[in-house]
Amino acid sequence: MNNRFIRLFFLLVLGTFLHANAQSYQNAQHHQCLKCHSNQTYSFFNSVKGKDEKRMMNPYFILDTVALSAAVHKPFDCTDCHSSEYGTYPHQSNLKLEPLSTCLDCHGGDASFASYHFERIDEEFRKSIHFQVSGENFNCSKCHSQHTYFATARTSNNVLDIVDYSNKMCLSCHNDMKKYKMVSGHENPKLVQVHDWLPNQELHFKNVRCIECHTEVLDSLKVSHNILPKSKALRKCVECHSADSRLKASLYKYQNLQKRSEDGSITMVLANESYVIGSHQIPHLKIASILIFFLTLIGIIIHSSFRIFKKK
Ligand code: HEC
Ligand code: HEC
Ligand code: HEC
Ligand code: HEC
Ligand code: HEC
Ligand code: HEC
Ligand code: HEC
Repeated sequence: MNNRFIRLFFLLVLGTFLHANAQSYQNAQHHQCLKCHSNQTYSFFNSVKGKDEKRMMNPYFILDTVALSAAVHKPFDCTDCHSSEYGTYPHQSNLKLEPLSTCLDCHGGDASFASYHFERIDEEFRKSIHFQVSGENFNCSKCHSQHTYFATARTSNNVLDIVDYSNKMCLSCHNDMKKYKMVSGHENPKLVQVHDWLPNQELHFKNVRCIECHTEVLDSLKVSHNILPKSKALRKCVECHSADSRLKASLYKYQNLQKRSEDGSITMVLANESYVIGSHQIPHLKIASILIFFLTLIGIIIHSSFRIFKKK
């Protein structure tokens, strides 16, 4: 009891400390750019009409301030990457043409980021179907926003969070008709129909990443980046639903998850050679169902004995 109180207090202090520290984008109201770029509407002084005006912001230009202040680039200011000439509004039209740094421009060949293997990722990405079809038009930023990227697989200790974060990257395009068409020039195949051979689709998409089936498992990278053509996608159930599941070498390999696997929460899929539906029972529910069974039995006995007595 006492212990828990101290821990709670410690967490509160830590939380306040971190909150105060991560103020770079936190206080959106006071940030020059975010006054406009974190809201649905923006106001500016129209110097031609000589008065203030309020207009709608393009939804694709609204940034999520919570995600900004959690991201790997949170120490950056906007104008570290964008031209400082954005400081005035209306923005000059030629600013649109300004080339922006890519991940490799900053991270390539930098020893302090060696554990991420940026160059190897780039190599793998260039083999992927996206790069093969679209070339340089499909770059790292199509999946990774430089504003909000956060290395989830190596930091989170929750499989569902890792899966959710990763799949949202793919779905941000594969589930967005406009964005998909902008990139490909053709209509978006419906994901639900494409995967209609997979039972419990929703459950699968919550529990496994798209890349589990759409890339080869690689030991040398934390996250495989070579998205294969659809003909090479994984369809065999036993690849995952077996004792030596490929998930051990991919999704479940992260050290940050190892502790969790000991408590059994991620080993359920791996437990049985031939997968049986409903195989993973929850102990509490099992006890509850036995209890309910006996209570019902006692109920029936009491009820029928009353009826027997009444008849007499
Ligand atoms: C007064 C509101 C306002 C402020 C302040 C503002 N912007 Fe913008 N920004 C906009 C609007 C509106 C657009 C949409 C295009 C346009 O109207 O020029 C935009 C567009 C952009 C774009 C996209 C350009 C393109 O078309 O690709 C970038 C990048 C950008 N702003 C960066 C910034 C940065 C960085 C700052 C701060 C230094 C900033 N903005 C401050 C209103 C603002
Ligand atoms: C680490 C570098 C980096 C920082 C810091 C950064 N941006 Fe960006 N921003 C980019 C890149 C790269 C793109 C182009 C994305 C693409 O190609 O799809 C971009 C695009 C944009 C766009 C166009 C819409 C979009 O998302 O494509 C706006 C608006 C924008 N940035 C505003 C801002 C504002 C406001 C800030 C500060 C809060 C900021 N950026 C900080 C790198 C950065
Ligand atoms: C303008 C240069 C620049 C660009 C462009 C850029 N980064 Fe970074 N990135 C940095 C710097 C500097 C840091 C270290 C920030 C810090 O000190 O916390 C960093 C941090 C990171 C980290 C955390 C590293 C760690 O120490 O744990 C990751 C992951 C990362 N970036 C990925 C990316 C990805 C992916 C892209 C492309 C989508 C990208 N970066 C684009 C400069 C950049
Ligand atoms: C098709 C989408 C896609 C593209 C394109 C892509 N990535 Fe990734 N990347 C991902 C996903 C999904 C993850 C896993 C996210 C997580 O959990 O951290 C990831 C993770 C990463 C990581 C973290 C790996 C680690 O060891 O923790 C880095 C660094 C990275 N990508 C860099 C890049 C670079 C550089 C490029 C361009 C050459 C690129 N990515 C292109 C989807 C993509
Ligand atoms: C920015 C948009 C975008 C993002 C993000 C994206 N994709 Fe794609 N993807 C496309 C487009 C466009 C095509 C179709 C290319 C073509 O054939 O014209 C495609 C094709 C594919 C294909 C089919 C390849 C084939 O043989 O036809 C697979 C599989 C795929 N993507 C998986 C993924 C996965 C997994 C992710 C996340 C890690 C992802 N995509 C992220 C746009 C995207
Ligand atoms: C259990 C494995 C599995 C998972 C998980 C999975 N896919 Fe697939 N996917 C496949 C297979 C197999 C095909 C090939 C289907 C066919 O050709 O009939 C495919 C096809 C596709 C295609 C090609 C569509 C077309 O016909 O052009 C895209 C795009 C795609 N998947 C994206 C995704 C995305 C995005 C996710 C995550 C939300 C995902 N997949 C999750 C196995 C999977
Ligand atoms: C990429 C790995 C992967 C592949 C391939 C895969 N599954 Fe799964 N499947 C999972 C995971 C992970 C779960 C979630 C397990 C859990 O809830 O504990 C799951 C859950 C299920 C469930 C629900 C289990 C329950 O108790 O509710 C069924 C049924 C199922 N899979 C059948 C299949 C069939 C049939 C195939 C082949 C057509 C298949 N799976 C292919 C990983 C996979």
